[in-house]
Amino acid sequence: MGHPLHGLRCGDGIELRFDVAGLGLVDLGEPKTAPVRVEFSAGAIQRRSRDSLRRQNLLRALGDCEAVLDAAAGLGRDAFLMASAGKRVMMLERHFVVHALLADGLRRAGEDSDLAPIISRLSLEQADFLDWQARGRFDAVYLDPMFPKPEKRARGKKGMVFLRRLLNQAAEGRSREDSAESEMLPGALGMARRRVVVKRPSREGWMNERRPDFSYRGRLSRFDVYLAAN
Ligand SMILES: C[S@@+](CC[C@H](N)C(=O)[O-])C[C@H]1O[C@@H](n2cnc3c(N)ncnc32)[C@H](O)[C@@H]1O
Repeated sequence: MGHPLHGLRCGDGIELRFDVAGLGLVDLGEPKTAPVRVEFSAGAIQRRSRDSLRRQNLLRALGDCEAVLDAAAGLGRDAFLMASAGKRVMMLERHFVVHALLADGLRRAGEDSDLAPIISRLSLEQADFLDWQARGRFDAVYLDPMFPKPEKRARGKKGMVFLRRLLNQAAEGRSREDSAESEMLPGALGMARRRVVVKRPSREGWMNERRPDFSYRGRLSRFDVYLAAN
């Protein structure tokens, strides 16, 4: 879609490009495939959030919590779902390329009058949750840092597969990566007024091997709920 105005190599075989449609990640090995963008107006995410909001396991897991910190926002799909259900969501994303894609998607969606009310409930910072100094507390903290290993189904979802490739490259040589996930749950429990919700692949174990208070299980993913002690 349009000629790229700028291109930045941001990984092995991956380029970040800006063209008339906005920012997109391009797989240099598959130059004919459309770039991966954050498209909040794309059909799939809209269907997901309009059809049956109350039946979404993520929303069931959050209950009536209103202020949510999405500590690992990624491409913002879950955050958009939460905002569609009326929640105010602060998103953190530590990877600068993912953050840039997400910021660009928010900017474009904010210009769409149908989406603007939802987008107004979303805010974004580029930060690592583990270093972030929260200003204020949140009813709930949502954790979806990255499934420990690729799910079979995820292979079909181009955005997530590509994201994983980018993040795996970024993680190479970062010694903190292994322990990072285990630090997230205690950090989140210290910050959440009411609950922490952790997304896991359905068949995967609990985060930190810690048993949740309850869970909502779907075909592919499970939402584990940890109630805050206070
Ligand atoms: C599985 S994706 C999240 C997908 C997201 N739930 C969605 O719906 O699009 C995980 C993201 O979390 C980010 N991440 C992982 N650990 C993080 C941390 N400690 N702080 C901030 N972002 C983090 C990664 O860079 C990645 O983009």
